[in-house]
Amino acid sequence: MNNKHTNTIILGIETSCDETSAAVFSGTVMLSNVIATQDVHKNYGGVVPELASREHQKNIIPVVAEAISTAGISKNDIDAVAFTRGPGLPGSLMVGVSFAKSFALALGVPLIEINHMQAHVLAHFIASSPPALESGLRGEIFPSFPFLCLTVSGGHTQIVLVSDYLAMKVIGNTLDDAAGEAFDKAAKIMGIPYPGGPLIDKFAREGNPLRFSFPEPQVEGLNFSFSGLKTSFLYFIKKQLQTDSGFIEKNKNDLCASLQHTIVTILLKKLSKAAEQTGISEIALAGGVSANSGLRSALKTLAEKKKWSIYIPPMQYCTDNAAMIAVAGYFKFLKKDFAEQTASPLTRMQF
Ligand code: KG4
Ligand code: ZN
Repeated sequence: MNNKHTNTIILGIETSCDETSAAVFSGTVMLSNVIATQDVHKNYGGVVPELASREHQKNIIPVVAEAISTAGISKNDIDAVAFTRGPGLPGSLMVGVSFAKSFALALGVPLIEINHMQAHVLAHFIASSPPALESGLRGEIFPSFPFLCLTVSGGHTQIVLVSDYLAMKVIGNTLDDAAGEAFDKAAKIMGIPYPGGPLIDKFAREGNPLRFSFPEPQVEGLNFSFSGLKTSFLYFIKKQLQTDSGFIEKNKNDLCASLQHTIVTILLKKLSKAAEQTGISEIALAGGVSANSGLRSALKTLAEKKKWSIYIPPMQYCTDNAAMIAVAGYFKFLKKDFAEQTASPLTRMQF
């Protein structure tokens, strides 16, 4: 290993959906994190799986090469290759899994399989600089165990009880659509391009969150449901368009603000319930929807009221990235939890 790095060097590979990403880590310290975002899905209202896997195929080698050169290492410094095994789109996962297996085999280093949803949670332990690492993995900027993580993405909405780096339990889940899907589908209804979440967030900043009200689902326990919201949003818009064809354009900011307000309220009510039930007041956010400014600020306000310690990931670690895969890989490396060369993608993957 290169003398510059006293720590384990992990290469992380992420291709579960529409981001091709590679990252190089030295322990929990990030040396590089390269993300190629796919624009080809913009006009389809969602990710087109066939197009996504072709884009990954084009991007994977240049993205990995850039991650290695930006990190200032040589490929022979790599101690292990961590890759997303699932959950995700089969054709997309296949590209990253095949690449990781071949690369690890060629380098003669271990292979580490990562659950993408677990990695979103572990993004909280990415150290920004060596001093943070030296002060210990549980320095004050990191959540302490046990903590609750609301993981909200395009495919998942989970409340996770995290007892240790690799000991997690899903205690709340969506019964149908994910929160990110609710944003993206509502955006599609309004003619806003994919991914709609960031644009709804932008329009919502100028709108009145209380102008329109949409029904909140009545779901038992800590589970969520977002399909009813999407349907009622669709029917509401259709009805308004009958009398005013310019309704969406005229009311876009208020529509976005009101929809966002409803989604955030649903999420935070269940998170509060989970905190009450478990008695845990260390609360983290993760996943693409954690980039939402409405959710971030509402959580801050709620945390002050409830006296929670909250952990909100930096923007670059909210949406899909390989940094979270590499840091998760490091924790598995410490346990020598290695994968077989026969590992294949898992579109659904529990932990
Ligand atoms: O975690 P992620 O990048 O991919 C999955 O694992 O699914 O999450 C993507 C989701 C998309 O639904 C996108 O619309 C949503 O995160 N998203 C947002 C924001 N940024 C991304 N939703 C609301 N507000 C945002 N600022
Ligand atoms: Zn994700």
